[in-house]
Amino acid sequence: MSAPAPAFKPLVFSGVQPTGNLHLGNYLGALVKFVDMQKTHDCVYCVVDLHAITVAQEPRELTANIREIAAAFIASGIDAKKHIVFNQSQVAEHAELAWVFNCVARLGWLNRMTQFKEKAGKDRENASIGLYDYPVLMASDILVYRATHVPVGDDQKQHLELTRDIAQKFNNDYAAPIAAAGHGAAFFPLPEPIIQGPATRVMSLRDGGKKMSKSEPSDYSRINLTDDADAIAQKIRKAKTDPEPLPGDVEGLKGRPEADNLVGIFAALAGTDKATVLRDFGGQTFSPFKTALADLMVTKLSPIAAEMRRLRADPAFIDGVLRDGSDRARAIAAANMKAVKDIVGFVR
Ligand code: TYM
Repeated sequence: MSAPAPAFKPLVFSGVQPTGNLHLGNYLGALVKFVDMQKTHDCVYCVVDLHAITVAQEPRELTANIREIAAAFIASGIDAKKHIVFNQSQVAEHAELAWVFNCVARLGWLNRMTQFKEKAGKDRENASIGLYDYPVLMASDILVYRATHVPVGDDQKQHLELTRDIAQKFNNDYAAPIAAAGHGAAFFPLPEPIIQGPATRVMSLRDGGKKMSKSEPSDYSRINLTDDADAIAQKIRKAKTDPEPLPGDVEGLKGRPEADNLVGIFAALAGTDKATVLRDFGGQTFSPFKTALADLMVTKLSPIAAEMRRLRADPAFIDGVLRDGSDRARAIAAANMKAVKDIVGFVR
């Protein structure tokens, strides 16, 4: 008879790369949910600096960017005392578990990862092995805490599926020692991606078919979290639209990617849904809608930008938050890693 599957204690984990300016996509796709979930769950939020070096980084810029993401977490409303905010490189167990998972994950699984193909581009032979192995490290980030919920944007869906596959295979491969050690039928939970709301995939302001991203050359394609009111107003005014007035219902957004994107952004910022936004703006031209959108964005983002500026002037405070968070994260990760070593059969 197989052991019953254990009920895992709910725990949220998510991460953000310190690779340049945070944009509205990161904010609506991830940070807003991070803040939301801390009301109901214990949360661990990580600046994934080991992931950042899968592509070349200038060391001093990396240091500044790690502090910048930690500041953005705090400025957005994450309570680093109640929850855990830290940077990945300071908890060695992430890399340690990633090695074990390298021996669980299959080459065929990684060969299917679309983000590697996009990031490596045509010159795949020249991509780092770290970039290829990126999703395995991501699985270990989540599972080293045995986290159950992972708030992310839509672009991380495939990585979360791989995480579940790795957890499942580890549980199967080591079923006997897992049960013998008293963990029941599974040592790792199958973490649930939390991809919800009207802005899980924020698109470029210049092209409704492309994701808003840090790597897009034109700054007009995105709203940076630190843009001032003038920059926001100008970028929204110049955002691509179509000649039709806004539709009265969500059905009418079909085949209108730019309109769909702006309505989704409005809904997410206002904490409502697209249908409600269209009830207010349906039938109107884009001009008054854009004015209202820019105003709403400035209202929501400018306090965060101001707090980030304040925190930027106090790196010692940020470093203290990260050190304290790393100590608390390490305590959880080390206990789980010990159990993994016993399960795998290592002598310790
Ligand atoms: P990163 O740093 O690229 O992005 C951070 C978060 O922002 C979301 N996001 C978006 N959401 C909506 N619309 C967009 N245009 C948009 N662009 C980015 C991402 O989905 C992400 O949630 N691999 C991760 C970092 C990571 C991680 C983890 C996440 C490493 N380990 C473990 C969760 C759990 C990444 O590259 O995120």
